[in-house]
Amino acid sequence: MADVEELLRRRLAPAFEAVAGDPVDPAIRRSQHADYQSDAALALVRRLGGNPRDIAARVVERAELDDLCAKVEISGPGFINLTLDNGALGRLLAEVAGDERLGVARAEVAETITVDYSAPNAAKEMHVGHLRSTIIGDAAVRLLEWLGHTVIRQNHLGDWGTPFGMLVEHLLDIGEAEAAHELSVGDLNTFYQAARRKFDADPAFQERSRKRVVLLQSGDEATLRLWRMLITESQKYFLAVYDRLGATLGPDDFFGESYYNDQLESVVEELAELGLLRESEGAKCVFPAGFIGRDGKPLPLIVRKSDGGFGYAATDLATIRHRVRKLHATRLLYVVGLPQQLHLGMVFQTAREAGWLTDPVRAEHIGFGSVLGSDGKILRTRAGASVKLMDLLNEAVSRASAIIAEKNPELDEDARAAVARAVGIGAVKYADLSTDRVKDYVFDYDRMLSFDGNTAPYLQYARARICSIFRKGNIEPPRDVERVLIAEPAERALALQLLAFEGLINQVAQNLEFHRLAQYLYGLATAFTSFYENCPVLQAEGEVRTSRLVLCDLTARTLERGLNLLGIESPDQM
Ligand code: ARG
Repeated sequence: MADVEELLRRRLAPAFEAVAGDPVDPAIRRSQHADYQSDAALALVRRLGGNPRDIAARVVERAELDDLCAKVEISGPGFINLTLDNGALGRLLAEVAGDERLGVARAEVAETITVDYSAPNAAKEMHVGHLRSTIIGDAAVRLLEWLGHTVIRQNHLGDWGTPFGMLVEHLLDIGEAEAAHELSVGDLNTFYQAARRKFDADPAFQERSRKRVVLLQSGDEATLRLWRMLITESQKYFLAVYDRLGATLGPDDFFGESYYNDQLESVVEELAELGLLRESEGAKCVFPAGFIGRDGKPLPLIVRKSDGGFGYAATDLATIRHRVRKLHATRLLYVVGLPQQLHLGMVFQTAREAGWLTDPVRAEHIGFGSVLGSDGKILRTRAGASVKLMDLLNEAVSRASAIIAEKNPELDEDARAAVARAVGIGAVKYADLSTDRVKDYVFDYDRMLSFDGNTAPYLQYARARICSIFRKGNIEPPRDVERVLIAEPAERALALQLLAFEGLINQVAQNLEFHRLAQYLYGLATAFTSFYENCPVLQAEGEVRTSRLVLCDLTARTLERGLNLLGIESPDQM
């Protein structure tokens, strides 16, 4: 445990409790006036009466802070200002330096967590919304696995339902060879749109498509074979995108809508037995508590349509039941765009009412906003078509390659290609993850590839520069030290930032707000820059030099780990 903030909390909490008679959150945060501040005494006045400064004084008297703090002061109306002792900082840093995990402990309770993410629709181009889901979901997977949880990836591919009647008929029209070709080269839009056009214009084709859906759903083997071909070819394309992106999703992670097909009947039966189903306009619906429409009436969640078919909602109810009962997950994450907030909210509430989601099992919608073009509208190509994700990623890499060639002409071709991939893909991911996920953001190559500001290349470059200190000086990073000497203000600031990593990681594991990790890494890189400008490292001597080398190395390792959790590579040289 090297998380100073948590250490302070643990020392102050018992003192507060002794004074207040009940547990109190010491409400510790970073402060302008000292390193940390607790302002819990102010809120206690309402309960205890008296003067907050006196309450703070009684807390300080009881708290064991001597070994951690150099100065404890009561200021203003009753804040407790805490200034850490440099010796304590140095001991904690030595502990972190000697730890492969940089002081971040594995979760006390290892959970089984399902992450539903990416989820493109078969035979259709993946759009930027799926890109966001893939990037955020993959970061979640990496972080939670690193903390020791068992993570099960669930790629909820859209591979079932009425569109597949039309798609299979189109496949028959153009022939299997041509279809396989279009799908495997990633020309999914051409394929889908041609099918759509015929469907909209030709009543005979519409009729064939309808019949085909019935055949598909009744398990007709010839139809299933064609459907499987559509799915397999699309999966190949999606896997190529994941590969380009460096996402950890593989061929075994597809659990599409069709996977739940034979569970839907029993989902509906169970809901009926529980008395949760009501007929509404011929459809079977649940009216989950707390969801009211604009007209003031309860909102229906349709689980079985009037034509007997099951919809999207029934499938999502099945995902919950399956993930809880069969996969034994206790935390279910759904990384899905915000437009589906109402849908998922109703599904989760229904699952609670059905008794599938009971404490401690919880489902969470990890929602996100849209990716916009420079015109402020959903990102499209200049011609107005939806962007082909592979092209978008390739463009980022080729622009990165040009920048790298200019910045570092000495890199040989292979090295440049590797760095360009790390920078280009890293930039796309970081631009996404560094934005508060509930907000929209504008996709802008120039900004995301800039070497200045809160970007992937800036952080990667900051780390590569540290690597070069060790490489050029032919120095082994010192990792086994008793203490790290901390004296200068810039050293203290860097030390505090490094020691905040654990707390930050644990917070992000809860809220999956990756922009907080991005902000942290950016703060770390800037703290390092000011340390490096103010504190000579190689010119220093003895223990000061060693200590400063430890700070360099720890910064590099923390940047690397942080970027890795975001799914971003850190080249040693760039
Ligand atoms: N395929 C859906 C879409 O493209 C996303 C599925 C999200 N996951 C889920 N379990 N509903 O909109």
